[in-house]
Amino acid sequence: MDTSRLLFLVFMVITTAECSETDEQQCENYDQQKYNLLEGEAFYFVPYNLLYKNLIDKEFTWYKNNSQIEKISTDDSEMVHYHGGALFFLKLLPENSGLYTARHTKPSGECDIYSVKVEVLKTKNDSALLYGEINNSDQNKKVTCPDPVSYTCETMKGEFTWYKDFVICEIDNEDDLWVYNATKDNEGIYTCMCTWTYNHKVYNSSGSRRLIVKDQAIHRKPVILSATGEQFADEGFGIKLNCSVFCGTNVEGDCHASWNVNGITFSQTDGYNETTKVDIEERSKNTISTAILNIEKVSAKDFQAKFICIGMGSYQTVSVIVTLKRRESIIPLVIGGVCVLFFCVFAAGLVKFFAIDLALFFRPYFPLSHNKDARVYDAYVVYQMQNMDKVTEDSLCRFVTINLPSVLEEKCGYRLFIHGRDDIPGEDRLELVEDRMKQSRRLMVILTPGLGSGSVITDQHLSSPENSEIGGFDWQVGLHYALVQREMTVILIQLGNTEPQGYTHLPPGLQHLIRKSAPIRWPEDSRGAAAWNSRFWKRVRYLMPATPAKKCEQSAII
Ligand SMILES: *[C@@H]1O[C@H](CO)[C@@H](O)[C@H](O)[C@H]1NC(C)=O
Ligand SMILES: *[C@@H]1O[C@H](CO)[C@@H](O)[C@H](O)[C@H]1NC(C)=O
Ligand SMILES: *[C@@H]1O[C@H](CO)[C@@H](O)[C@H](O)[C@H]1NC(C)=O
Ligand SMILES: *[C@@H]1O[C@H](CO)[C@@H](O)[C@H](O)[C@H]1NC(C)=O
Repeated sequence: MDTSRLLFLVFMVITTAECSETDEQQCENYDQQKYNLLEGEAFYFVPYNLLYKNLIDKEFTWYKNNSQIEKISTDDSEMVHYHGGALFFLKLLPENSGLYTARHTKPSGECDIYSVKVEVLKTKNDSALLYGEINNSDQNKKVTCPDPVSYTCETMKGEFTWYKDFVICEIDNEDDLWVYNATKDNEGIYTCMCTWTYNHKVYNSSGSRRLIVKDQAIHRKPVILSATGEQFADEGFGIKLNCSVFCGTNVEGDCHASWNVNGITFSQTDGYNETTKVDIEERSKNTISTAILNIEKVSAKDFQAKFICIGMGSYQTVSVIVTLKRRESIIPLVIGGVCVLFFCVFAAGLVKFFAIDLALFFRPYFPLSHNKDARVYDAYVVYQMQNMDKVTEDSLCRFVTINLPSVLEEKCGYRLFIHGRDDIPGEDRLELVEDRMKQSRRLMVILTPGLGSGSVITDQHLSSPENSEIGGFDWQVGLHYALVQREMTVILIQLGNTEPQGYTHLPPGLQHLIRKSAPIRWPEDSRGAAAWNSRFWKRVRYLMPATPAKKCEQSAII
């Protein structure tokens, strides 16, 4: 082979290579389009750049680029065929899914490549079928028919039918559907269906969009719901401060609650921590933002600090200052309560203990019972005179002749009728006793250990007035007055010790009186018992009439 031949060959190869490369580069690739389509419907596709252009079939080659490349014909009887830039699917089947490519060779020699990816789906409520949703705050919503459907109808002189949630809603030959004063009820899937005729056959193509109706936002001046001026806190303990702000209805993005401490955002300050959240109430759609300031350990400086709760709405900002206050300790309160209780108990005890003293003290000022009767004696004193041992007799004698008169008569000015002392000899005993009893306001019975043990006061004896045993008749008359006529109050005084069997041996009348009021025991041996202001005498005086027949000296009352 000569050199010139070889060079020619090399030149030819290079030229050919260059040529084919140039040829490839001249083809312009346009962005791939993609559609999800419903099985059974028709689809009329024209690439964006070729819309409204009437181009002849010869300039185009369409093929399906699946696992292998299949050429598409221009034969109208084929379910998939093309005319110029338009690709027809007359009845979509799942096997039609795939990538379709068009090569457009212009008369100038330039070429363009268009491609469309088709996916055929079986169910009409597959959300993959939806075109872009309509989600704006407009009051009247415009639902536009998706472009390919709209274009099909326009080009093929088809008719529009609108469906809402797959139910026919409007037969309206418009490619836009208006929903006026949209409410939540208008939400749903709107389908634009184009019914078009091609080669005397009717075809359907549809496209759907979702309509979303957002609640209307109502901005209000923020209102701080939670934080109050002063909050109690314990030093050394943690506390959470709540800043809760209401900003209006449906204003999620425009409602912010926050805290700052002395005007400083505390992310820089130690020991504070904040958590925030925004809540929209389910029904009212009220928007409330809450910021919780967590103070891990309240320190002395926190009681001086100003915690500011800030509520930020879309147009306005409000704030409230919160300060901490030391919580009063509960201990002094408890101590105080215990003291008051103790004092009350103490006072009650005191009153109970000194009840008699108090009664005696106040008696002159509040003479409750005005026994301003005509009776001459304050008390008629009866006691046993016989059947006693020597010791009892002595102490009885001392009591009756010395102690009793010295206190009640001399100090208090009472007038006593003491049996055995005040009887006038020779007087008729029966008459005397009865008369003196009538003249007395109290019956003072002095009980002695031997009382009733002898034959002195038995009911039999008492019931026989002829038996003028000393004491017997007095008892009887006295008890009669006290029990039957209830004219006399009885004062019972016990001398010495009580009998081992109690008072059960005494006549029933007397036992009844003893049950009503216990006898006052004469503490003969105790020091100071004889003093007029001893406890014993106070108790006796308490039972005596308030004002003596002959008035008690004021100084002698207490
Ligand atoms: C077919 O598709 C494949 C992958 O998408 C691509 O690489 C190839 O160039 C395509 N063939 C034609 C002839 O378009
Ligand atoms: C087109 O849609 C209508 C209403 O859904 C239906 O009655 C009709 O049969 C459909 N036509 C074709 C060819 O699918
Ligand atoms: C904060 O205060 C608001 C309003 O008083 C109340 O509804 C909310 O439950 C409080 N949050 C906390 C965490 O205490
Ligand atoms: C703030 O509180 C969160 C949750 O309560 C906690 O995880 C975080 O550690 C706290 N941060 C500080 C600095 O205390």
